[in-house]
Amino acid sequence: MPENKINWHKPVLLQQAINLLEIKKQQKYIDATLGNGGYSQEICRLGGNVLSIDADKRMIELTKKRYKNCPSAFWKIVQGNFSRIKEIAKENSFLPCSGIVFDLGISSLHYTSGRGFSFKDKDNLDMRLDEDNQTLTAHEIINTYPKDLLEEKLRYIAQEPLAFQIAEEIAKKRKSLKIKSAEELASIIKTVYESHKIKTKTHPATKTFMALRIMVNKEYENLNEGLRQAFETLEVGGRLVVVSFHSGEDRITKLYFRKLIKQKEAEDLTKKGIRASYREIKENHLSRSAILRGIEKIN
Ligand SMILES: C[S@@+](CC[C@H](N)C(=O)[O-])C[C@H]1O[C@@H](n2cnc3c(N)ncnc32)[C@H](O)[C@@H]1O
Repeated sequence: MPENKINWHKPVLLQQAINLLEIKKQQKYIDATLGNGGYSQEICRLGGNVLSIDADKRMIELTKKRYKNCPSAFWKIVQGNFSRIKEIAKENSFLPCSGIVFDLGISSLHYTSGRGFSFKDKDNLDMRLDEDNQTLTAHEIINTYPKDLLEEKLRYIAQEPLAFQIAEEIAKKRKSLKIKSAEELASIIKTVYESHKIKTKTHPATKTFMALRIMVNKEYENLNEGLRQAFETLEVGGRLVVVSFHSGEDRITKLYFRKLIKQKEAEDLTKKGIRASYREIKENHLSRSAILRGIEKIN
């Protein structure tokens, strides 16, 4: 698809997150989740030097093409997992740095990538961000995990109220033929909801798909490790800013920040967290569940 036709990811809470970072000219900043570069570009525009990381090489390729006409000597992009952020920072002379931002989850382009993130994907149930370094796929989870384990994951990761019934139905269906596509899985879950006469505001498979994505990409493990290393990568006075999109991510961030604040290693910059305005939610539905938190390293 020509680049001018691509429906680029629209950054969420961009100005609020960048304001929190307090960008200073020629200081070093890390964007731990490049995506389509909305945050990185803004930091560059304000005069910061940026190191951007993304686990997904295809996202990096697209984003590099997007900005091919505005090369910057002050913007470096690398592929990698933010669970290794300290090492990546060191390899690229960004240790220590003045600020780090995480804009969690996946970008809107992932939903149209044909890799199983969308309920409509016809021939894939993959969901890996980094196929070269990850082996577990959503297909493997759905077709091989014991029923009880599936139920437990759906319940605890995504608070799926019909976890038991969905796991039962998946186990029944896969006995005769493997569940091959995201579309097929979404339709099985839709049928479970319909048979229980339960109506939902979003697609009934939303929670299951979220749980699968989190499992496949070890999102909680990576976030725990990524935040810990990010804090070690910051200089004293540096700021760590996180935008999360669901309660699991926010809980990890909130508890870690709380611990650092209690130990007097960090100062809270956002108290209860910052949410998108009514206007932003109207213009960008991705922002409806977003919450922004930030701390400053003081010790
Ligand atoms: C919400 S998007 C970021 C959007 C970006 N702020 C923008 O303005 O376009 C999240 C990005 O983080 C990447 N990502 C998710 N988990 C990651 C991880 N553990 N390490 C590195 N990148 C990750 C995804 O591939 C995705 O491109």
